[in-house]
Amino acid sequence: MSNTIYMTNMASYLPENVIYNDNLAKIVDTSDEWISSRTGIKQRHICGEDQDSSDLAVMAAKKLVDCGMDPENIDAIVVATTTSNRMPSAACRVQYEIGAKNAFAFDISAACSGFIYGTYVAKSFMSSSGSVKNVLLISSEAMSQFVDWSDRSTCVLFGDGSSAVLFQKSNVCGDNQGCTRLEVIDTMIKSMSDKNMYEAILIDCKKRNNHVLSSDGFGLEKQGDDIEIVLADGDVCTISSNNTFGSRNVLSNEFIVMNGNYVFKNAVDTMSKAINDILSANGLTINDVDWIVPHQANKRIIDAMCKFFDFNINKFVCTVDIHANTSAASIPLAIGHAIDNKFFKKGEVVVTVAFGAGFTYGASIMKVV
Ligand code: ACO
Repeated sequence: MSNTIYMTNMASYLPENVIYNDNLAKIVDTSDEWISSRTGIKQRHICGEDQDSSDLAVMAAKKLVDCGMDPENIDAIVVATTTSNRMPSAACRVQYEIGAKNAFAFDISAACSGFIYGTYVAKSFMSSSGSVKNVLLISSEAMSQFVDWSDRSTCVLFGDGSSAVLFQKSNVCGDNQGCTRLEVIDTMIKSMSDKNMYEAILIDCKKRNNHVLSSDGFGLEKQGDDIEIVLADGDVCTISSNNTFGSRNVLSNEFIVMNGNYVFKNAVDTMSKAINDILSANGLTINDVDWIVPHQANKRIIDAMCKFFDFNINKFVCTVDIHANTSAASIPLAIGHAIDNKFFKKGEVVVTVAFGAGFTYGASIMKVV
């Protein structure tokens, strides 16, 4: 039996609320100019009042199932998320919502490396077990629910979104019916044993700041203790008095804290090393690579990697401008963007690479078939 594993289909979900940099400049001391030039981010999607990361996961999974996958053929459901605050797992919720009654289901937490960790897990199950032939990997994050909306150094960086990817063994996936199919050649995951790195990005109990918001800016309304941002399309997004957007399940005062400069430097070094390591383990060099899909944290990190490899910047898939940092969801959202826009051609080699809290990191090599 062939152990070749393909990514055969995918679907993404982005919440309807779009927050532009100018909206954020109404609630913290920042500007579109600062955010754009320091990060490349222009906008981010933010969960609605009633949504959490498992809701986003369900939305993406349902979209994928609607593409024609029989949920009863799914053998395993893995949800990569760091922003699920629920028990049972988001994966178990997806399982019953789509009726995948023959699957086993669980979550993994590897921050921004979640998609690559999930790919590794899917490939490992499928390679080692004859009975696991179809794995649904969903990467889903509600970062907005763990952001301190009064901290300008972090709140401008993150967005929400989800993506569902179907991995299948070659003997079950049949014709690709026009879908772009990626063969998973190799995947490598690692994490570091270092206290400074461990503490550089945390969702941690941080003393909640008082809002420093005024209620007289354009598009900003104060309703009791809540702050409402009027979005470009006239919709209203609420920051509740406990400092969150759409705060249904948010733990009282746990927020992302990050040492940005330290993370930045290590992100460039580690992702560049991860690419070199996986390429050399497969007898390849950067010259064999057609596309790089990196974790989307900061355009300047992508530019620095581009310089390191002397690679064509147009061959880095970049969606940080429209999605911001969606942690585990960022790479599959970018792959979906590349597929929708027909970037990938048959025979091309695509490398994904990520780096996130932990520090976790990883890379994979895929081939368009
Ligand atoms: N608007 C305006 N000014 C700001 C803002 C803002 N939103 N945020 C910070 N500043 C100010 C700072 O206060 C500082 O002011 P000062 O010079 O008066 O002290 C100045 O801008 C420069 O701050 P730096 O932190 O040095 O800015 P930098 O250019 O390093 O950019 C950033 C910060 C964007 C966070 C960058 O360091 C970065 O992208 N780091 C990597 C983040 C990352 O990769 N995360 C991935 C993992 S996330 C995860 O796993 C969940």
